[in-house]
Amino acid sequence: MSSFARPHLRRLTPYSAGKPIEELERELGVHDVVKLASNENPVGPSPRALAAMRSALLELHRYPDTDMFALRARVAALHAVSGDELSFGNGSNHVIDSICRTFAGPEDHAVIGTPSFVCYRMFLAAADVPTTEVSLDQGVFWNVDRMLAALRPNTRLLFLDNPNNPTSTHLGREGLTRLLSHLPDTVIPVIDEAYVHFVDAADYVSALELRSLSPNLIVLRTFSKAYGLAGARVGYALGPSTLIADLERVRTAFNVNGLAQVGAIAALDDEAHLAHVVALNRSERARLSAGLSELGLSVAPSQTNFVLVQLPTDAEAIYEALLRKGVITRTLGGLPRALRISVGLPEENAKLLRALREVLR
Ligand SMILES: Cc1ncc(COP(=O)(O)O)c(C=O)c1O
Repeated sequence: MSSFARPHLRRLTPYSAGKPIEELERELGVHDVVKLASNENPVGPSPRALAAMRSALLELHRYPDTDMFALRARVAALHAVSGDELSFGNGSNHVIDSICRTFAGPEDHAVIGTPSFVCYRMFLAAADVPTTEVSLDQGVFWNVDRMLAALRPNTRLLFLDNPNNPTSTHLGREGLTRLLSHLPDTVIPVIDEAYVHFVDAADYVSALELRSLSPNLIVLRTFSKAYGLAGARVGYALGPSTLIADLERVRTAFNVNGLAQVGAIAALDDEAHLAHVVALNRSERARLSAGLSELGLSVAPSQTNFVLVQLPTDAEAIYEALLRKGVITRTLGGLPRALRISVGLPEENAKLLRALREVLR
């Protein structure tokens, strides 16, 4: 039967997520599966977040606060901004989708990097926005000049995740400053800082410190990574109140559930847990990167909670062989010889390295 979907939507393919553990167990009958596929936090959320969410279960028959008064106030205090500079979503995915649909259409144009977070391309295509994909240097590093050269008079949106998924690399202060200061006022730069907590590069700067350079700057943050709340789904946009008001106009009511709202607040209050997660990621990222290098593989310099590794052969075959050994990693469209591997717990990373050594032999 032919599709009823609008013509520009018919060529879209649904997002393909990292394979769930249960699916692998079902399909191959393997046990003790380690999932290093979706850049999740292997430690889990703060116990304080879990306790707050457990208490909130008793309120599940009530709709959540659609204005998110408490969460808005807490995040506003965190960034020293006002509540009307924030718009929350069911994960930052939801916010990215809203940004595309709210600010651009078929008559506009967008610029993204490739490879970068696949959802920019997906949501721009869903909003029917013509998009230029700008290649990264050596497939790994942002090239600001090429991003700027891709701008057109009708460019409305520019997405850049810093650090970048799937390359794990970052754009430093000089590059980000140059990019933001050269954008015309008609462009909305969206700087996605999903992995900001894991950065330790001395030349990194959060775009939040560069807001004065671009009147339309929107910064995205999520609770899915360092705060370990990927399953709860909370992310937000921080930007000028005029643009945020536009996002709020189209925001679905009750789009962040009550458990997620209280969990996110409690997660912010537990700085010790965040510090533990970040420290463990740092040491395990170094160990994982060194272990992969020892296997003769080239690893991009990671500023995130995952690594991008170049393989000598087709990544799909190695991915499949790792699945049979109970380790889930991630292949990437457009990078046929690369695997993305999330930084796990020490024993998970050790299992991955053992399995990969055997597979490559
Ligand atoms: C760069 C980037 N932005 C946003 C997200 C989405 O996060 P959320 O769980 O908040 O939708 C991800 C998730 O992997 C990501 O890599």
